Amino acid sequence: MARLRVAVLISGRGSNLQALVDACSNPAFPAEIRLVISNEPGAPGLVRAERARIPTRVISHKEFPDRAGFDAALDCALEEAGIELVCLAGFMRMLGDAFVTRWRNRLINIHPSLLPAFKGLKTHERVLAAGVRFTGCTVHFVRPAMDEGPIIVQSAVSVLAGDDPARLAERVLGEEHKAYPLALRLIAEGRVTVTGERVDISGATGPAPSALINPTG
Ligand code: GAR
Repeated sequence: MARLRVAVLISGRGSNLQALVDACSNPAFPAEIRLVISNEPGAPGLVRAERARIPTRVISHKEFPDRAGFDAALDCALEEAGIELVCLAGFMRMLGDAFVTRWRNRLINIHPSLLPAFKGLKTHERVLAAGVRFTGCTVHFVRPAMDEGPIIVQSAVSVLAGDDPARLAERVLGEEHKAYPLALRLIAEGRVTVTGERVDISGATGPAPSALINPTG
């Protein structure tokens, strides 16, 4: 079976890119990464892609007078590579409405919270300040508004006494690295449909009804 042709867009470290690269390195995985694009020339994630012999492009937003020009350059690179699905993995630029609409339901993102809670930046700081007992990560289809769109996969993480933003981020990141390949696999297997801004996944069984309580003792 033909594998889904994927591009990953990054701005920095690229640990989620690495998780996707690792998943796709299994020939039985139904997707392959054909292109990695960074808007930051020095993004460490580019090295990860090169190491995996994946073609890379740097498309710096600074070289364009406006967002539309930058988005058009992205679109052109994606079309040229025959990309079917775009994964945002720590890509820290907002994409314009026209681009998002053009790639509707073919553009996904990972965010380090249980959306729709804690959209935006400094997520873990705000989670800790709010005193919530659970946080986590979300993979979702992208819509024009930031960190909004139909949810494909979520993973919950307990907030522990003594957590600081860095420790919490590390635990959430561990879940991100499982959630993103899972979402990609489900899409590539053709099991994901969006109906009325909700995602249905055919043949999926959820976890057992949760009795997770935080704190215990
Ligand atoms: C990840 O935690 C990702 O969820 C977050 O940036 C980090 C990128 O790390 N994305 C967002 O906050 C988007 N709103 P990575 O470069 O190591 O994958």
